[in-house]
Amino acid sequence: MLLEGKRIILTGGSTGIGRATALRAASEGAQIAFFDVNDSDAATALKEIESAGAKGRYWHVDIVQEDQVQSAVDEAVEWLGGKVDVLINVAGVLKGANVSIDEFPEDVWDFVIDINLKGTFLVVKHVARHMIPAADGTIIITSSGAGVLGGSSSYAYGSSKGGTHGLTMVLDGTLGQHGIRVNDVLPGALDTPLKRAQVEAVHDATGKQGSLGDKLEALASPDGVANVMVWLASDEAAYVRGSVRTI
Ligand SMILES: NC(=O)c1ccc[n+]([C@@H]2O[C@H](COP(=O)([O-])OP(=O)(O)OC[C@H]3O[C@@H](n4cnc5c(N)ncnc54)[C@H](O)[C@@H]3O)[C@@H](O)[C@H]2O)c1
Repeated sequence: MLLEGKRIILTGGSTGIGRATALRAASEGAQIAFFDVNDSDAATALKEIESAGAKGRYWHVDIVQEDQVQSAVDEAVEWLGGKVDVLINVAGVLKGANVSIDEFPEDVWDFVIDINLKGTFLVVKHVARHMIPAADGTIIITSSGAGVLGGSSSYAYGSSKGGTHGLTMVLDGTLGQHGIRVNDVLPGALDTPLKRAQVEAVHDATGKQGSLGDKLEALASPDGVANVMVWLASDEAAYVRGSVRTI
């Protein structure tokens, strides 16, 4: 199995890409500590992880709150047996789709940048506290094609993902010397609650042109990206540097 014995902290495991990744990692032999704010879907995800024969545990953590991140990371590392091998940071939000720049609300900007960029920084910061002394680890950050390879329907979202990509490049240069590999994944358009809401918002805002059903149907499965995440988390990906782009 690809992740036999790997001890993983994963954020955003309740739905979408994070949940698909947690399940795939469970089927590959990993032990999974996951953080989210969506408790009801987390309970279902946890049952699925355990049904796959893996050990899983859930912490309610708002990744924007440093005290919550710090204590949950410390508790998770203890539960994982004193070491974390892999961080997969997936939690994120998309708001402000199709809102023009001259009307873009400051509070929407702050909400998205806080969760996507500051939240990623806080999770990496506290996991790195454990990985640096161990001189070992793998960190996978979820960026996006939006704000890195092209535009976005939301100024805040594209900017936040350009930010996580920049953070990845800085971390790659600094944590590499501590034996820690840092990659980011740039997914395309995937069928998750986040992307469905964005497609519906853009469809409504642009006069409902074309079939909403066809637009939703065109979204790819998060399972494909989960496979990429799990492979990147494995030792087979030890030579991979920088970003991995997916459909
Ligand atoms: N779906 C796509 O097309 C797509 C494309 C590129 C990148 N992404 C990125 O993939 C990641 C996962 O998105 P998804 O599409 O699976 O969406 P999703 O909404 O299904 O999953 C996001 C998860 O993050 C959690 N979350 C949100 N705010 C949080 C917070 N403050 N603290 C802890 N957890 C929080 C949510 O509860 C949810 O479980 C996001 O970072 C997103 O930007 C998605």
